[in-house]
Amino acid sequence: MASERAQKVDVDALLGMKPRGDKIAMVTAYDYPTARAAEAAGVDIIFVGDSLGNTILGYADSLSVTMDDMLHHTKAVARARARALLLVDMPFLSFQVSPEATVRNGGRFLGEAGADAVKLEGAKHLEAVERLVSAGIPVVGHLGYTPQFTHVLAHGHVQAKTLPQATQLCRDAQRLAEAGCFAVVLEYVPMRLAELLTQALPIPTIGIGSGPGCDGQVLVLADLLGLEPELHLKHAKRYAEVGAQMEEAIRCYADEVRAGAFPAAEHAAAGLEDEELTLERVREMAAGAAE
Ligand code: KIV
Repeated sequence: MASERAQKVDVDALLGMKPRGDKIAMVTAYDYPTARAAEAAGVDIIFVGDSLGNTILGYADSLSVTMDDMLHHTKAVARARARALLLVDMPFLSFQVSPEATVRNGGRFLGEAGADAVKLEGAKHLEAVERLVSAGIPVVGHLGYTPQFTHVLAHGHVQAKTLPQATQLCRDAQRLAEAGCFAVVLEYVPMRLAELLTQALPIPTIGIGSGPGCDGQVLVLADLLGLEPELHLKHAKRYAEVGAQMEEAIRCYADEVRAGAFPAAEHAAAGLEDEELTLERVREMAAGAAE
């Protein structure tokens, strides 16, 4: 069992989990410490999502996230990754370009940044999926609520709420699988539809806000950790209150600095205990150094 857990997760390992009913655990991470924690916790997929924009970089949404932003953060995550598969979002407009530019952009995540696979939002770019896969770049699809399409999506988060919309979503999922995607994220898809589509599809589904019937789950780390205390999302269970704890810890530190309670001697560098150091002597030393 221990050696099974230590084995690197690859596309075949994830595909093999579906028929066994083994659930896939995926979480976002954006830098070395968060990736190290996700790796130590033993998740199957560490995902550098373009949620980087709003959760880490302070952008208004994910549309402002650039290739450079994603590459920079993926490299940091890759330094901590050991066993998990490292998946990266292709940012807005990085795969709606020429086939050559799409492959070049996707390839940079594997070749330069150390990722194992890329994720593409929407189902309009099947050719991009095929090109990437045939260039040796594994691809995950993303359907339902797709934040990069926020300006053209049906209003509200939940998608595919009518039968025609559900039919379209099922067709899109099947087409993504046929184009070569090895998994598909289903975001805010009605629970019953997500469960049955999961049974119908040959590839794993990874749900977010789509219920327990998916083959795996993904959460945005900031939501899971409660990094934004005032943000309460229906789909995201909060496993900690890190945002509130972080603020409290920094407040205690600032209070102790102002009160002279921090640092104590035990926090300071030792040395020169045997020398006779007086203020006069230090003044002379400083004067000599200035000459
Ligand atoms: O960018 C992201 O974090 C995502 C998840 C919500 C799946 O796409």
